[in-house]
Amino acid sequence: MFKLNLAIISDRIQLDGKEFIYLCQSDSVYNGRGYQFIFDDDLDKQLAVFRRDGQLYCLSNICPHRHQDKIFDGIIRDMKVSCPEHGWTYELATGKNVNPLQGLRKLKKYEIFEKNGKIYIEFPEFEIPKWREKMSLDNK
Ligand code: FES
Repeated sequence: MFKLNLAIISDRIQLDGKEFIYLCQSDSVYNGRGYQFIFDDDLDKQLAVFRRDGQLYCLSNICPHRHQDKIFDGIIRDMKVSCPEHGWTYELATGKNVNPLQGLRKLKKYEIFEKNGKIYIEFPEFEIPKWREKMSLDNK
């Protein structure tokens, strides 16, 4: 698990009008495995990063089925990742839900690339469900 604080990441790149931030060193992400990244110690702000056949993929780590943060630990097969909780399955490249019987909710996908031995992702805008926003307001 990697923990990052968005406010203090100073290694940033502007590309095609988009801001990308440093995530980790390239050699920290091995082929065929998933990794969990948590931002700002906020459990709603999580990403899952995968390397498959040398290619990097970045998706939300939170499964929209039951809001479990286990996508990074999913089973990867045929360029898809299955949530280890109840098996909802998503395309690695797009986050698209591949089984309409599971519903239409998908995983948000983030752009990711490597440069000079470092991995960058687009500045993440997290999708926090309305019911979670209400919970955090109630807790203040
Ligand atoms: S929480 Fe992911 S499939 Fe149920």
